[in-house]
Amino acid sequence: MKIAIVGSGYVGLVSGACLADFGHAVRCVDKDANKISALREGRIPIFEPGLDGLVASNMAAGRLSFDTDLSAAVAEAEVVFIAVGTPSRRGDGFADLTYVYAAARDIAHALRGHTVLVTKSTVPVGTGDEVERIVRELRPDADFQVVSNPEFLREGAAIDDFKRPDRIVVGSDDARAREVMNEVYRPLYLNSAPILHTSRRTAELTKYAANAFLATKITFINEMADLCEKVGANVQDVARGMGLDNRIGAKFLHAGPGYGGSCFPKDTLALIKTAQDFGAPSRIVETVAAVNDQRKRSMARRVIEALGGSVRGRTVALLGLTFKPNTDDMRDAPSLAIVTALQDGGANVRAFDPEGMGQAALVLNDVAYASDAYDCAAGADAVVLVTEWNTFRALDLERIGAAMTGRVFLDLRNVYKREIMEAKGFQYHDVGRGG
Ligand code: UGA
Repeated sequence: MKIAIVGSGYVGLVSGACLADFGHAVRCVDKDANKISALREGRIPIFEPGLDGLVASNMAAGRLSFDTDLSAAVAEAEVVFIAVGTPSRRGDGFADLTYVYAAARDIAHALRGHTVLVTKSTVPVGTGDEVERIVRELRPDADFQVVSNPEFLREGAAIDDFKRPDRIVVGSDDARAREVMNEVYRPLYLNSAPILHTSRRTAELTKYAANAFLATKITFINEMADLCEKVGANVQDVARGMGLDNRIGAKFLHAGPGYGGSCFPKDTLALIKTAQDFGAPSRIVETVAAVNDQRKRSMARRVIEALGGSVRGRTVALLGLTFKPNTDDMRDAPSLAIVTALQDGGANVRAFDPEGMGQAALVLNDVAYASDAYDCAAGADAVVLVTEWNTFRALDLERIGAAMTGRVFLDLRNVYKREIMEAKGFQYHDVGRGG
């Protein structure tokens, strides 16, 4: 099939490369000429394991190309994916749909023949209706349908998530559009991924509901972790005991410094706004968002307490800055709140992250960036493991201890065992493993 992808950001690029790998002829479009020329030279503007190889092999096979010319790509496409950004709007946190509607207008002018327009960006309920209205108004003659097909991929595991999804949600009431979407995803039948056909509004809401539920799961276990610390219980065992119940499931029950990233914080806020606008406020999601914000900030207090109540003039070394491993993404990362609060308290902050230091340097001031974990620990009063990159899972603890000035080690991801850390002489603090 001939597919155009409008927006070559994270979702657009991953979707484009994977759809090309399925055998479709895919043209990725972006207004940013620098980005397109970089992509044409095989340079990938984001860090995602395996993406460079997938882009290169599909470009070489002639199935994947990059262009700034939206009109040509759309004119020849049977399916056009809209994969532009939907950032949080300043003020009310609602998804900013400027780019989606601008894309809809550009696409409308270029439509030729029967075309299915697919919103892949995470968009609030009713956006598909508005896209349809915009296109219909500009091109009353055009033969098109608008489908919602939300993406459920995780950063760092995006290619695998795209190729082996738990499900594909396709929102459209139109039989012809459903057929076209079945054809797009036909290669996945081999993996027996179910395609769930729903109405467009249902598909749009499903995406938000799924992300808000996962955010709720994390926030719930984080609260249990706090309680475990008070009552002398172990949150990892509590999570295991809960998760073995199939109705609950073991995933997304890892306690930590709070969720971050480009999706959960933004999507929970957008869902809260939608729910309020439609007169059905979601108290649960409102609470989850507030509790998570609070949690990210409270992590710095743990460091301050572990250092005896003040960090003034002390050196704190952060291992990991990105919101999770295998990404360079710093958006809403817990490290941002931690660094800022520590600096406000007068601490000198050192940090090392395998991929995130470039992005971090754009948003954090006065951080001393190290070349590896040991360099980072040099002269530190406390080491804080913030993001569980693999490289921090098997640290040479003797070397870390020897490099430090103090012995305080805060493990915000519960990577290490208390007995081992204490035997090595660390004053070890974890999350929720009180007993
Ligand atoms: C999330 C969803 O998992 C994807 O299904 C969805 O497609 C995506 O948002 C999106 O809407 O685009 P992502 O933001 O890449 O994916 O990252 P996750 O792996 O979900 O992690 C989010 C945050 O939750 C991270 O800060 C992570 O450290 C935290 N987390 C996750 C926990 O603290 N505990 C857990 O048990 C799981």
